[in-house]
Amino acid sequence: MNKWENPQLLEEHRLPPHAYFFAYADAETARSFARERSRRFLSLSGMWRFAYFDHPLQVPPSFYSEYMERWGEIEVPGMWQMQGHGHLQYTDDGMPFPVDPPYVPSSNPTGAYQCRWTLGPEWRGQRVVLRFDGVETYFEIYVNGSYAGMSKGSRLASEFDITDLLNEGENLLSVRVLQWADASYLEDQDMWWTAGIFRDVYLIGKGAIHVQDVCVQTRFDDACRDATLACTIAVSANTGWRLEWSLYDGARQLLQGGGKTLTWEASVPAPRQWNAEDPYLYRLEISLYDDAGALLEVVPLRVGFREISVQDGLMYVNGRYLKLHGVNRHDNDQLRGRAVTMARVEQDIVLMKQHNINSVRTAHYPNDPRFYELCDQYGLFVMAETDVETHGFVNIGNLSQITDDPAWEAAFVDRIERHVHAQKNHPSIIIWSLGNESGYGCNIRAMAARCREIDPTRLIHYEEDRDAEVCDVVSTMYSRVQMMNAFGEYPMHKPRILCEYAHAMGNGPGGLSEYQAVMDRHPHLQGHYLWEWCDHAILQPDVPGRPFYAFGGDYGDYPNSGNFCCDGLIYPDQRPGPGLREYKQVIAPVKVRAIDAAAGRLEVENRYWFSSLDCITLLIETRADGESLRVQRVPLPPLPPGQRQEIRIAEPPSGAGQRYLNVRVIRDQATAYSAALHELAVYQFALPSTSSLPARVVAEAPVLTEHRLDYRIEGLRFHMVFCKLTGKLKEWVADGMPLLARAPQLTFYKPCIDNHKQENDALWLPQHLNILQEHLRGMEVVRNGGTVDIIVDCQIAPPILGYGMRCRYHYRVNGAGQLQLTLSGTPYGGFRDMIPKIGMTLGVNRSLGQVEYFGRGPGENYPDSKACNIIDRYRSAAADMFEHYPKPQDNGNRMDVIWATLHDSHGKGLRIDAPQGIHFSIWPYSAEQIAATRHDNELREDDYWTVNLDHKISGLGSNSWGSEVLDSYRVYLEQFSYSLTLSALNKENGQ
Ligand code: GAL
Ligand code: MG
Repeated sequence: MNKWENPQLLEEHRLPPHAYFFAYADAETARSFARERSRRFLSLSGMWRFAYFDHPLQVPPSFYSEYMERWGEIEVPGMWQMQGHGHLQYTDDGMPFPVDPPYVPSSNPTGAYQCRWTLGPEWRGQRVVLRFDGVETYFEIYVNGSYAGMSKGSRLASEFDITDLLNEGENLLSVRVLQWADASYLEDQDMWWTAGIFRDVYLIGKGAIHVQDVCVQTRFDDACRDATLACTIAVSANTGWRLEWSLYDGARQLLQGGGKTLTWEASVPAPRQWNAEDPYLYRLEISLYDDAGALLEVVPLRVGFREISVQDGLMYVNGRYLKLHGVNRHDNDQLRGRAVTMARVEQDIVLMKQHNINSVRTAHYPNDPRFYELCDQYGLFVMAETDVETHGFVNIGNLSQITDDPAWEAAFVDRIERHVHAQKNHPSIIIWSLGNESGYGCNIRAMAARCREIDPTRLIHYEEDRDAEVCDVVSTMYSRVQMMNAFGEYPMHKPRILCEYAHAMGNGPGGLSEYQAVMDRHPHLQGHYLWEWCDHAILQPDVPGRPFYAFGGDYGDYPNSGNFCCDGLIYPDQRPGPGLREYKQVIAPVKVRAIDAAAGRLEVENRYWFSSLDCITLLIETRADGESLRVQRVPLPPLPPGQRQEIRIAEPPSGAGQRYLNVRVIRDQATAYSAALHELAVYQFALPSTSSLPARVVAEAPVLTEHRLDYRIEGLRFHMVFCKLTGKLKEWVADGMPLLARAPQLTFYKPCIDNHKQENDALWLPQHLNILQEHLRGMEVVRNGGTVDIIVDCQIAPPILGYGMRCRYHYRVNGAGQLQLTLSGTPYGGFRDMIPKIGMTLGVNRSLGQVEYFGRGPGENYPDSKACNIIDRYRSAAADMFEHYPKPQDNGNRMDVIWATLHDSHGKGLRIDAPQGIHFSIWPYSAEQIAATRHDNELREDDYWTVNLDHKISGLGSNSWGSEVLDSYRVYLEQFSYSLTLSALNKENGQ
């Protein structure tokens, strides 16, 4: 039997798990917490010898004992697929081989890794431990030709004592890594299938007597003020040593103790408590001496005083109620896959903090041990999930097949045991998670029991323990907002978490505000983790030098789950997307509401859980038509968490125009993750306004002439041509510049966004909404005082079917060349269901590449995703208003636009006025091209701008895996009418 097809066999010679820490030669170096400076630390990461084989037995026998001079090199840590070996495949849940546990493909991609290093004399007399922080999937190690052990559990650490196999001087480490193992059945997360030594490898030297393990726990007295620090230590020898410990607050020693005992407790009067908002850390130094009094080593630990409790079905940290506003984070990098650098990891954490996120779930496996240290330091509450997911069994109709099979119990339990031991000292971790999407059964129960045995101080989560039989929190994923509301109204006896929701695939998610309102309403709902943090696409060069983001299917991988891996709030290269900005606003810790904005009466609510508002300032600006009338700075009072208070400001100055009160919430001081004056949120309140109608230029009536195939209208420096065959405005030239490239066209469809795919597949494509035809049914031309009216009746309908819209384009042209356009339609036939939009598209001269508009911005916004964008006057290059999702789709909408100008560098162009407000977007590509393109880099700029001036647009929802568009944000094929005015723009008319 192959060792990699035997789920009872989890390891050979692997050391028992323990907390992640390092020992240092003295207290001073210990304070650096830099493992490179620890007593004996030798990183083996770097360039290694490497060869790739299709089968484990192809590795030559000499590999184990001889250095393969002629082999190529590979970077460790790294995934071999990201370095030119093997094959990439992306599936959501499908296992890329027959489901036949514990068997895996006989041709099992194998990486043979070698590393040679010199062990100096300073290592003499040390035990030498070889540690791997992550190897996918199965690996065996050989030291100087001798077998030294084997391990499984890709995202868990493995240690081996290799002392007896080492030479002083040159040493050879050979590692055989197999991509597939019985363990693959436990590691079927929704991500790329990859393999390799993808986290650091290093040696740790240990004296004969050394600290083997430390466990630190803190709890508070009933008043949640004074703390007890409890410590349990394991030392490698029973006698011959003495311990001393000191607790420091910065440089100040607070407490100390010592002796020969391995467990001790100390009272710490009123320590500053750790929480994600104030991640205050103390330092515990444990010094180990031999009997003669010589210092053997110092182990430093960061200690955060915090305690988790549950009372009457609610979760508390440090006795305070809280909610977790979280995200699900995978390890991912657009070039390195899961072999992320710590710089990237840290930047993820900084971005989360900057965007008001207070919690992270390590979906769906443990991270690099340093990740949790950063969470301790920056302040994030962590739901620490271990490496278990058997999702592929869903495809054979028994998701719980191995989860409920005692033969696999040890393999499941091993994964929580190693995880909890390694991470048990982190204040940031408040919840353990047993894994994801693995059904339910005896092995989950066994994991929970073992988890609680090792660590009774934290809560346990596992989503598929649906009734929270063994878990401390009850959890679901993607429950719709109505369902969450019902959960909240009729609470269970345990706190509830929505561990995944608001699928951030492509353009979206919509509906975050609506979810948040429900989350905020019910005490029972204590956490929500948005799916997910980052797009998992891989940056690929292409031939013309325009790199693109590759997803499932781009490597010839089949079956695959396409771009389902592009479902993050940040792009693959860590750039925040529109969804992240929206989430930031929705979960902002300071809420501002208007009691009576015009009278200067606002209400502020502190939605922090631990902090007061004394370092927060409101920057309040009154604006009219996009001009600033007054700016006020209002430092907030030290309002305690959960409190609201009325704030009175000077009455906003009066004035004409579109007036708004904009309130920016600013943190005065810099933090570890943000500069001074960091913006936490923005709010906008409308003030009484006067609306300015589009300027009507007085001019003589235009001249209308009728020709065989068209009508021509001429006036002050312009002419227009309307086609008799189609009813279309086929030409408009003003000041010698042709303005139109494609005639105005009513549309009811747009390039499908990922979040509408279900509606698209089930409804719109079968109804042929994407191929509607327009047929002229009547055209009337009327001279009307100073104007000419062209009234075009048409039918817009799909082929084959019998439904559609009877529409009217009513053009009214005055002598100055202003075109007032009223668009209307009445549906007929049987289809009245939801559609993406009711709007109009036109093609505009390519030279009009500059945009100015008054409406909602600066980012894209949609009816159910607009909280972070406010109404103002914005300027932008047209090209910058396009949002480049890895897979092209509708994007870039701006709502509430009452006017916009498209112009060239001389100020010539087109002006649009729509006092009722329209949706506006401008694309360098046609809708047809966007819809037909798989990757962003394949888009080719058209020789005109596609401009959408839409009446109604459906919300985004997040139904690529989450919620449907909520009823209030759906657009239906229904009667409509709206108007707008288009005018030529030039310097002379001053517009
Ligand atoms: C969940 C799963 C995640 C991811 C998501 C869809 O069901 O837990 O891992 O697959 O759906 O993107
Ligand atoms: Mg899954």
